[in-house]
Amino acid sequence: MTEHHSRYRSQQPTTLLFLLLIALSSFTQIVNADCSASDNDFTNDPAIQTMTFDMGYGPQEFRAYVEPDVSTFYNAPPGSKTRSKPKHPGWAAKFINMSNKRVRLFWDPRNGGPGSPITILQPFEAGGTASFPRHEFYVTPYEDEQEILHRWSISPPQAVYYYDPITVPGDEEATQTNLDNLSVQEFESYRRHVDNRDFAKHYFNFTGREYLSMYPRNKPSHKIWRADYFGQEHWVTTRETHFVEHPQLEELSPIKKTEGRKRVLRDDEPRLLQQYRTQEPYLNMTLKVLSCAPRAFEINNFLSQTEVDHIMYLTTGMELHRSTTAGEETGTERDQTRNTRTSLNTWVYREKDQIIDTIYRRAADLLRIDEALMRPRSKDEYPKMGSKGSIAEALQLVHYDVGQEYTAHHDFGYSNMFSSPKQPQRFATVLLYLNEPEEGGETEFPRWVNAETREGLAVEPQIGKAVLFYSQLGDGNMDDWSHHAALPVKKGEKWLMNLWVWDPVYQ
Ligand SMILES: *[C@@H]1O[C@H](CO)[C@@H](O)[C@H](O)[C@H]1NC(C)=O
Ligand SMILES: *[C@@H]1O[C@H](CO)[C@@H](O)[C@H](O)[C@H]1NC(C)=O
Ligand SMILES: *[C@@H]1O[C@H](CO)[C@@H](O)[C@H](O)[C@H]1NC(C)=O
Ligand SMILES: *[C@@H]1O[C@H](CO)[C@@H](O)[C@H](O)[C@H]1NC(C)=O
Repeated sequence: MTEHHSRYRSQQPTTLLFLLLIALSSFTQIVNADCSASDNDFTNDPAIQTMTFDMGYGPQEFRAYVEPDVSTFYNAPPGSKTRSKPKHPGWAAKFINMSNKRVRLFWDPRNGGPGSPITILQPFEAGGTASFPRHEFYVTPYEDEQEILHRWSISPPQAVYYYDPITVPGDEEATQTNLDNLSVQEFESYRRHVDNRDFAKHYFNFTGREYLSMYPRNKPSHKIWRADYFGQEHWVTTRETHFVEHPQLEELSPIKKTEGRKRVLRDDEPRLLQQYRTQEPYLNMTLKVLSCAPRAFEINNFLSQTEVDHIMYLTTGMELHRSTTAGEETGTERDQTRNTRTSLNTWVYREKDQIIDTIYRRAADLLRIDEALMRPRSKDEYPKMGSKGSIAEALQLVHYDVGQEYTAHHDFGYSNMFSSPKQPQRFATVLLYLNEPEEGGETEFPRWVNAETREGLAVEPQIGKAVLFYSQLGDGNMDDWSHHAALPVKKGEKWLMNLWVWDPVYQ
């Protein structure tokens, strides 16, 4: 836990309209007392504004994320700066099947060849992918891939595309016939999609963004750090101080998944293997705003060299050392003799040992999320959550050789109505750099909002540094601007870890 105190309260269902959704997804919310000078939550985030709208059920309110004027990102007078148009034209594309039939979704390469299958959309379900303007997609019946039911060409700012064979524009009679032919359940599903589409129009008019979640969806259960201007700093303390000396291997042991709440460490209890850690009472982590939209932060020295070495040893058998000899290149050297284990697609679970557990606890403090949510819980911890599972994934090790890259993509998926009413989504990503490639290998946010360049924001890997960014906006929508890429490594190699945290549950 951080030095500040936490208390918990349940979300109260307020209006009848949201009763169903909230009943299905009610979830204990973490409310932290002030933990840093610049800590602010949802209610006083200036990017969150009240939208009033009417979908035929009377006036309603929605607290929406509205991207602030880019001038404010520079602390400049409003209207004094103009947003640059990013060179990268990528765009989210979500397809919603508003029919009661299964359909197949294809991407059409438009080269005379066959379409490439993207997914199968169950009735009233949705799917999507990162795409580009003018890319074409179509749906066919499940049974007949040759019959094109509907075709779309991606044209920003539209990001959500509907296949709606029920409503026939300008023909009420035909529409009614189609509606009459739906079962009661199908009709209800269709109606919810019509509401979702209506809501999305209001949301687009108010925010300028497409609604990529499925209305209604709760706002995230977790806090999101403010990113009001470039270089803005927040700090948060954690009692999970750095390991500075590697414990003897026999002192490291797996943490039993079933231990549940026994693993809660009170503030006055010693940390795990404290004798190998700095003797400071806490670690003060500074988050620096790199990008305001999407919200991205860098945290230098999130991991110590000892911790980085430990991760490399665990995952690859290698030991990495930063060259410290004067005059030598910065960068990394490897002890090749230990390079025996496979390096790709390695997942490291929190329960692996005390050092990995410490990294999760520290990340929880960084995110201002109770660490208990990031491990299996006993049934009396967060009983309303409906899931006893961790909201965090295992750490994923990624390795890039010269020339290797990961083109721009999102970490979130495309919410369906039926997969779960909670619409589980990746909420935040924490990237942990384990080395420094000699050249290239930056993490790029190609669509960051700025007033200076059309180029992406490139973040250089530095050993031990973390980058935090959010895939979700404060209002529960997904952030299309969270597109990110791993640029090609030009010289050397790159090692990093991904930590993904979900909201409200991991599915
Ligand atoms: C939508 O889903 C229904 C039910 O699975 C299916 O019958 C229909 O073909 C789907 N339509 C599209 C466009 O995916
Ligand atoms: C109603 O549904 C049935 C079964 O799916 C279909 O055969 C029929 O053509 C539909 N009728 C209309 C008017 O859409
Ligand atoms: C959104 O704005 C457009 C253009 O101003 C307008 O035609 C449309 O009616 C608006 N839609 C909603 C739902 O407010
Ligand atoms: C943490 O560091 C910041 C500077 O980044 C400083 O202002 C703050 O007082 C420090 N907090 C604690 C508790 O040491």
